[in-house]
Amino acid sequence: MVFVDGTRILAAVSRDLIATMTLKRLTVVLLACLTLSACGGVDPNSPLGQRKAIFKQMLNNSENLGGMLRGRIPFDGAKFAEGAVKLDALSHEPWKHFPSVREEDHTSAKDDVWQKQARFQEMARNLETATGELVIASQVQPYKAGNLGPAVQKVEDACTACHKQFRDH
Ligand code: HEC
Repeated sequence: MVFVDGTRILAAVSRDLIATMTLKRLTVVLLACLTLSACGGVDPNSPLGQRKAIFKQMLNNSENLGGMLRGRIPFDGAKFAEGAVKLDALSHEPWKHFPSVREEDHTSAKDDVWQKQARFQEMARNLETATGELVIASQVQPYKAGNLGPAVQKVEDACTACHKQFRDH
């Protein structure tokens, strides 16, 4: 009798334990989902997550620079020059986060990134050249917004050219 009761108690305890563990496991899964942008989203530490983050910073940066030239943001030559240096540094960063095999999900990079590596790399170098030239143009003093249009245009063209060929919209 005592034995049977003991087993019952044990069974009850282990049921509770299993319930608690399942709950804990669920919590872990839920938390993991929350740290991703959405459940089933992109892991920010993955190569894809990292290059997306860099591209976003590049966009913010180049929009600020373009904004200063187009009058959306007041022109400040020193700030512009600083932004150009940042954009130039960022423009060297995304490429190493393209792994040797394309991800299955969530990427908007076309297959061609992998099929036409030489062309892709060439367009990456074009951007780096353009941002390098922007840095030089931005350091010419006295600062003048009027001098910077062509250099910014060249950067924006380098973004667009690559997206047309290598990014799905
Ligand atoms: C050599 C090619 C290339 C150049 C140059 C390039 N990009 Fe991209 N960009 C890509 C590819 C490929 C993707 C898609 C990445 C992915 O989803 O795997 C992308 C994605 C992006 C995204 C979307 C990120 C996201 O959250 O999905 C933004 C924003 C972006 N690029 C901005 C820029 C800006 C701004 C420039 C220029 C300053 C630029 N890119 C230059 C190839 C390029």
